[in-house]
Amino acid sequence: MRTLQEYVREAQEKKVAIGHFNISNTEGLWGVFRAAQALSVPVIIGVSEGERDFIGVPQVAALVKSLSDEFDYPIFLNADHTYSFDRVKEVIDAGFDSVIFDGANLSFEENVKITKQCVDYARACGREVLVEGELGFIGQSSKILDGIPDGVLLDEKSLTDPVVAKDFVEKTGIDMLAPAVGNIHGMLRGGVDPKLDIPLVKEISEAVKIPLVLHGGSGNSEEDFKAAIANGVAIVHINTELRVAYKQGLVKALQENPDEVAPYKFLRGAVQAVQDVAIKKLKIFNNL
Ligand code: G3H
Ligand code: ZN
Repeated sequence: MRTLQEYVREAQEKKVAIGHFNISNTEGLWGVFRAAQALSVPVIIGVSEGERDFIGVPQVAALVKSLSDEFDYPIFLNADHTYSFDRVKEVIDAGFDSVIFDGANLSFEENVKITKQCVDYARACGREVLVEGELGFIGQSSKILDGIPDGVLLDEKSLTDPVVAKDFVEKTGIDMLAPAVGNIHGMLRGGVDPKLDIPLVKEISEAVKIPLVLHGGSGNSEEDFKAAIANGVAIVHINTELRVAYKQGLVKALQENPDEVAPYKFLRGAVQAVQDVAIKKLKIFNNL
């Protein structure tokens, strides 16, 4: 089986992107996996610190590996937004394929220092683990928003500066970079987020020469996704839209079957709802 690094490179060459979908449980995992399988595309499962604490760090690693092994399928596991070196070390030791050290809220120097420490640990661990760094704060929660997240500014000088990004990549040696290019974590009520700054995506990509990861994908338009992917984005993250779909699928199933008490029956609606959203996004990211 090819490695995640190879799939990411291939995506960049083909000008498509790998879908990264966050899960909180096995229903989410099956929904995403079946979506990827239906389209025969590689996929990344993401778990934030909270999501992986809920499932269990070794448990989620075992679950994703079991799908990869049983189906001989390119499904990978990423430790999403990780805020300390200790937690990065924990997931590398647990067998994750990639990890994001999120120092977007730290000073540049502190962000470089800890990101570099994570890269050094990953390189020395004896297998391929990709490390992603973050530059530019885009908010922290995958939820429905009534406005732009606190602390996020979308003016030109608050987005990621290509010159600073280049310096960050050179100093840390990261494999992938998550920039702030008008994207926000979470989704505005109504489902339409601000437009992405596509010329900036291009400038950053040309400056750093490593794949870019677009976070905060919920609420962005098909047109913006395609333009971002054509200009250097190789992975796109979606979470809020999956959470909304899961909840709606579950509520609908409970309302329609008020006497049903078997979780494996009333949770089918949630799995299907997650699968439907993931299929829609994967078609856009893979030009299908
Ligand atoms: O890392 C997670 C993603 O960036 C999700 O963002 O909830 O806006 O889709 P989202
Ligand atoms: Zn994110």
